[in-house]
Amino acid sequence: MPVQRNGSTPAHELAALVGPAAELTAPRYAALARRIRDLVSAGQLPQGTRLPPERDLATALATSRVTVASAYRVLREEGWARTRHGSGTVTDAPRDAVPEPWYGRSDSPRFDLAHAAPAAAPELEAAYRTALERLPAMTAGHGYFHAGLPALRAAVADRFTARGLPTDPDQVVITAGVGDASSVVAETLLQPGDRVLVEHPTYPGALRVVEGAGGRLVPVAVDATRPDDLVQAAQLAARQSAPRLAFLEPDFANPTGARLSAAGRRRLAATLWQQGVVTVVDEVVAELYLDDGPLPPYAAGVPDAATVTVGGLSKAVWGGLRIGWLRTDAVLAARLGATLSRRQLSVGVLDQLAATVLVRDLDAVLVGRRRRLRDQRDTLLSALAVQLPDWRVHPPAGGLSLWCALPDGLSSAALTASAAQSGLVLAEGRAFGTGHAFDDHLRLPFTRPPAELRSAVELLAGLAGPLRGDARPPRRAPASVV
Ligand SMILES: Cc1ncc(COP(=O)(O)O)c(C=O)c1O
Repeated sequence: MPVQRNGSTPAHELAALVGPAAELTAPRYAALARRIRDLVSAGQLPQGTRLPPERDLATALATSRVTVASAYRVLREEGWARTRHGSGTVTDAPRDAVPEPWYGRSDSPRFDLAHAAPAAAPELEAAYRTALERLPAMTAGHGYFHAGLPALRAAVADRFTARGLPTDPDQVVITAGVGDASSVVAETLLQPGDRVLVEHPTYPGALRVVEGAGGRLVPVAVDATRPDDLVQAAQLAARQSAPRLAFLEPDFANPTGARLSAAGRRRLAATLWQQGVVTVVDEVVAELYLDDGPLPPYAAGVPDAATVTVGGLSKAVWGGLRIGWLRTDAVLAARLGATLSRRQLSVGVLDQLAATVLVRDLDAVLVGRRRRLRDQRDTLLSALAVQLPDWRVHPPAGGLSLWCALPDGLSSAALTASAAQSGLVLAEGRAFGTGHAFDDHLRLPFTRPPAELRSAVELLAGLAGPLRGDARPPRRAPASVV
């Protein structure tokens, strides 16, 4: 949304997003506050946006100035806006607006669709056998490898180079998973109060990492049907909020499956860099393309220090392996490596030896991985089309999950709670957003075998009908979501 010369959002544009004032239920000021809150939590009004002067919005909405002033007051009281001296009212998000990751709890789940994480690739065991054979050659040394085992750093660097991103081993740091790599970046580069652009919806771990480092979330809307809309929205949010970092997943974002085009990622990378924003590029599923081939890595075409690319083997091979990495310019990599060393000195040597074998063989591993995921994605899509035809899904061209828009009146949280009682664990929509967003969506990973996916959808179809209309979300129960 463009800003006016005084820096605020044009009143007529906000009024268009709010919709006709006559449709705001009484009391009108409370409904207007709710509507603006939902726009902030959905990323349509980024955190830090200056709201129009009360009088202008009142005119644009054909309502009274008292209504707008009261709505702004409610937003301030609830933490969704604050008054900045000389700048009027600016959107914000309350500290507790980010929900813990939530999923349905079941003592003995029959089906687990809460985790978008496949079973281990068959090549894993052979890689560990090779690692065991190589281990004796290393045991005479102390076993600590700051920044990672040299052979693994070289293998990761070679893979980046082969994908079109020339990389030396000293630009790579090995971490205990992709989330660990993101935490290291946030811990090193964020000061409390710094703003951070995040896709919205996004992977709950990204929200936790930013919050954990004291960053303030600036959500930017992602729509899998128009993935490149993110480019302009992120550029605008960056201009308005001057963030320090952006957390992006250009290839098959979790949970939407959205993928930025080659031109879109080139444009976004260049402008964020020009605006002084360092982008953390999460590539956890970047090589899990199922229909079209690879696109140039996001980081290609900007200076190395413009991005920190984080990746790893959790989805390509197995989450239990706990091997990830980060890649940036050598100076920043050394700084990030120092943060990591202070925390955990080194990552397990046997795991790194196995990972070295797997990274060198990744093309072969990915052939089988992609074949299975393609089959499972298509099974899940057709089961949904038959059993739940009023759920709207944009088929993703890669990644691990479907982001389902639920029909009116069906609450994702209610469905998650009800499914857990039948032994099906799910991650509810709100886990992927800030505030109250996404109770109208459910993420369904296609990481389980086809027969399980079909049974799970059958179960969901049986539960969804009776729940329609009871839109009140139940209380949440904390748990982990990947
Ligand atoms: C986008 C994204 N980043 C990071 C992770 C975590 O990866 P790891 O298990 O390697 O820490 C996940 C796991 O689901 C993810 O979806």
